[in-house]
Amino acid sequence: MVLTTVRRLRIAGFVALAVVPACLGASGHSDGTTDLQDGADDTTASHPATSSTTSDSGDGSEPDASESSSGEDGSTGTVSSSTSSDATDTGSTSETGTPSGTSSSEETSSTTTSPESSGSDEDSTSGDESTSSADASGDESSGSGPCERPRTLKEAGACIGLRKGGAGIHIGAAVARHWLESEVAYRELLLREFDSLTPENEAKWDVLQPSRDTWYFEPADALVDFAQSEALTVRGHTLVWHSQRPYWIDAIQDAEDMRAAMRAHITATLDHFRGRVPRWDVVNEAFADGIEWNGTWLRDWRATQLLGSGYIAEAFQMAREVDPDIDLFYNDYNNDGRGGKADQIYAMVEDLVEQGVPIDGVGFQLHINATPTQITPGGQFWSSLYPNFYNVDAFADNIDRYAALGLKVHITEMDVRVRSPFHHPDHAPDGTSRNSTPITATEARLQANIYYDYVSACVEKYPACDAITFWGVADQYSWYAPDPALPFDATYAPKAAYDAIMAALEEVPYIAPQ
Ligand code: XIL
Repeated sequence: MVLTTVRRLRIAGFVALAVVPACLGASGHSDGTTDLQDGADDTTASHPATSSTTSDSGDGSEPDASESSSGEDGSTGTVSSSTSSDATDTGSTSETGTPSGTSSSEETSSTTTSPESSGSDEDSTSGDESTSSADASGDESSGSGPCERPRTLKEAGACIGLRKGGAGIHIGAAVARHWLESEVAYRELLLREFDSLTPENEAKWDVLQPSRDTWYFEPADALVDFAQSEALTVRGHTLVWHSQRPYWIDAIQDAEDMRAAMRAHITATLDHFRGRVPRWDVVNEAFADGIEWNGTWLRDWRATQLLGSGYIAEAFQMAREVDPDIDLFYNDYNNDGRGGKADQIYAMVEDLVEQGVPIDGVGFQLHINATPTQITPGGQFWSSLYPNFYNVDAFADNIDRYAALGLKVHITEMDVRVRSPFHHPDHAPDGTSRNSTPITATEARLQANIYYDYVSACVEKYPACDAITFWGVADQYSWYAPDPALPFDATYAPKAAYDAIMAALEEVPYIAPQ
């Protein structure tokens, strides 16, 4: 009842004025946990409609990977500056500088209050210097703690630690250096809502080592330095991947040379980021969507051709030798479902664990399609590279089976497409195109419910699942744009999806506005 009242006040935009009785939360267990969830049982999160009809970015596409990460985009703003919004805009992003992500819409103003950051993260992960925004001791002036009414995603994620013990769930976003440096609103939203970032392209093999033994750390350093100075943690992405690899790899002719190239890349990268990036996707997307290499589901590229399936274990071993203090992840898509690729990947990971290969966790990308398989104009089913539909029960089961192996699970790249399953127009069958009109109420509801279900599964399985990263900060720069796939719209205003994620993190029901 009390929470319901508080939530209604928040919805009405009076969060700063809401007086919250202290009885609900800070009951002070010796381990710092509280019993918040009990009071939430009868609570319904009747979240407001949001300003999600303002998708005005049109063709506001992200610079391509090489541009955004090569530093050749003309961007000169420094990330610590707060006045550079108009300095280097590329033109495709005009009118996005809503201050602090505040929506002009009354309906969304309730979610824009900035939290006081007080750094109580108890994360014991070695090398993780992040601080969380939820202070277990609460706000003494009002007698209430932020966990009674978390105001941001990161606060709500950290509060899970307060309720259940541990550091809570890190909430992250894939970040593109270009937008971070050129748009104040992008940066402010990132700092307000997230306590983790993943370089979207800047730490991939092709950027870090474009020619053999030639290193280019500057774009990734810019992101990691920013994260450190702002107390965000970082997910390193990614060391060994067939895609966005430098092309010199394809000229490698023998196994020893491939091994040497892998070792050199892993060693130089982990040495460079030592103490600054506490977890890495060591191998990314090693599996195809069906049989591809030598009768297996492994991807056919230089690493498998020269080293066989063993390159995966070798990469993990090399990474552990270089840095024993970081968490090492295998990351993929379509590993969250049942059967097929999900089972292939599980069997491989199980095998790694049984062999004693140093692996700490598995990343589920969760690039989710909200709509079932579409039928092409020719009448054939399109076999998407990405999941054709979603199945949150299977996801929960997958968390369990990986946790039973003693592994951590992260949601690493979540977004929810509500339209075409085609992430690139060139991949779409003739006659289909992505629709850039604003998200409809129906789409927003569908998307919000899917976000709610998946985030709830992670929360339910905490601490096995303790990090959730969304693949982008806001819709207009998502790799799926103009499909509005993220929790924030092109004006940086929270969408229905945001309210659903907040409800999931707070472990209260979410009822989408009708
Ligand atoms: C994507 C980026 O978002 C795009 O900007 C880039 O052009 C291609 O890669 N799986 C991954 C991510 O592991 O690295 C990919 O990121 C999305 C799919």
